[in-house]
Amino acid sequence: MAIGRIPDNVLEDILSRVDIVEIISGYIPLKRAGRNFRATCPFHHEKTPSFMVSPDRQIYHCFGCQAGGNAFNFLMQYERLEFPEAVEILARKAGVTLPEAHKQDSKTLSLNTQLYKINELAALFFESNLNTPPGLQAKRYLLKRGINEDAIKTFKLGFAPKSWDALINHLRNKGISLSLLEKSGLALAKDSGGYFDRFRDRIIFPIFDIKSRAIAFGARILPVEGQAAGANNQAKYINSPEAPIYTKGRNLYGLNLAKDAIRDNDCVAVVEGYLDFIIPYQAGLNNIVASLGTALTVEQARLIKRYTHNVVMVYDADDAGQMATLRTLDIFIEEGMNVKVVSLPKGFDPDLFVRKNGIGIFKEKITQAENLFDYKLKILKSRHSVRDIEAKAAISSEMLLTINRFKNAILKAEYIKKLAQDLEIGEDALLQELNKIKDNKTGVDSYSQGASGKTKNISPTEKLLIKLMLEEEELINSIRDRLEPADFQDERTHRIVSLMFDLLEQGKNIEPNKLISHLNDEVMSQVICESTMLPQVPEKNKENIINDCICRLKNERLKVKKQRLHEQIKTAQESRDEEKLDRLMQEFHCLIKEG
Ligand code: CTP
Ligand code: MN
Repeated sequence: MAIGRIPDNVLEDILSRVDIVEIISGYIPLKRAGRNFRATCPFHHEKTPSFMVSPDRQIYHCFGCQAGGNAFNFLMQYERLEFPEAVEILARKAGVTLPEAHKQDSKTLSLNTQLYKINELAALFFESNLNTPPGLQAKRYLLKRGINEDAIKTFKLGFAPKSWDALINHLRNKGISLSLLEKSGLALAKDSGGYFDRFRDRIIFPIFDIKSRAIAFGARILPVEGQAAGANNQAKYINSPEAPIYTKGRNLYGLNLAKDAIRDNDCVAVVEGYLDFIIPYQAGLNNIVASLGTALTVEQARLIKRYTHNVVMVYDADDAGQMATLRTLDIFIEEGMNVKVVSLPKGFDPDLFVRKNGIGIFKEKITQAENLFDYKLKILKSRHSVRDIEAKAAISSEMLLTINRFKNAILKAEYIKKLAQDLEIGEDALLQELNKIKDNKTGVDSYSQGASGKTKNISPTEKLLIKLMLEEEELINSIRDRLEPADFQDERTHRIVSLMFDLLEQGKNIEPNKLISHLNDEVMSQVICESTMLPQVPEKNKENIINDCICRLKNERLKVKKQRLHEQIKTAQESRDEEKLDRLMQEFHCLIKEG
């Protein structure tokens, strides 16, 4: 376990110096709600906020999806970090120096840091080439495509020279090792030994993450005079391979530059290519990102969702009618976002459209986008004759796939109604068909269900006692005299309670966020957070409630013991093991006396 490497006292030190409210409100807006803060949960889709942050307890908890934990857990979950990375970030924030041993241990962290550095150096190298004689042709091409000098700088466009080792040599001189170069994907190993540059004689588009760090590169071929691009059998674009800091489908091109405009406009236009992004952006449409020619992923949808719920997909005419393309947009519906579609006239992509018609008309097109439901239905109807019964069935089942993705029951019902009216069929029949596909739940659903499932079976009594013990240290003492950890039936609550007893014995203070980092287990963190956030128990009833809880746990344990004995007695009877039977009966009688 990674946690073993960072001493608990260091983790505690970090936690006591940072404020979880400050950290979380750096990511999502928090509203005060009594002693706590409230927000819509960033980890699952919801309309009414059930995500709570407790400044007193320094934890967060979502009553909807059961996500919860301390400041480390939030960073890990939100920024998708490994534990040591989250610790490193908060340590820096808290001004706590991590022990050297830990730093050496977290190899992945330093590998990532080195990869960012290499990419940064490479991007600078490519960029500077654009202004040297070998890069002039590339520069001329970019200008000819309508990208101006400012935009070239903004997007840090560059050129990879026609050489097998220009970049390798440049980076070797800066002390970068070949193995690291290979890991970055910038250099490729030859079968015969040695390495060569991946990108040669191409225009370079660096791809940045949300923090504007270069994480990958796209490289476009230069057209040979009088020849169409790609005519010489080379791919128009080649791209960086996946690397520890780059996973395809986890970023969006241009988001680092567009995020503020996306938030301000509460809307984003999604296009496909580099040029389709750069030309409109340069012309003043700043709430735009590019998917870089691949199908959108859930991760990308969630990335967008941090800034807006409103997405407009801009497609070329050929793409916009493809059912497969449209189906990928259901992701947005599943995430509770609004998605609209614009199709450009035949032969146009956003780049060409803006250069021909101007940004004003392009913006107009975007405002006129049709919502996915209407758009998809229109396309389907244009393909089939709606008078045909078979066609109605085909259209319905395609539309139901989309309708099924709405989490909101009212939206679902309204769209069913709309579809029924439009196709002149019965709502009941549509509902029946919808129920048939219900079982095909997708990943997101199973994620949130799975999460709540894990703590679902833990008895409320156990959770309530844990809550009360976390509130008053003295109570732990008195409960320890009356209960043992084994009285907690659930294996997780059992462990939590033993840890509390242990810490008390060692004279350490017991706070939920510190327990969480001691235990370092997702389900146990959830239990702790859920318990902590249970409603306040009125002071005057406290004593009674505690007594009642203790009784219940004892009875519950007794019941389970009896059951177990009962079963053992049955087996002993069946196998005629008189001696054992005798012993078990005696035990049973003792138990009954106890109860
Ligand atoms: N793409 C790719 N590899 C290819 C072709 C395309 O990675 N062989 C990606 C690129 O990110 C590209 C996007 O898909 O920007 C869209 O492809 P396409 O429309 O063919 O290219 P454009 O971006 O329009 O490029 P250009 O206008 O320069 O031809
Ligand atoms: Mn194009």
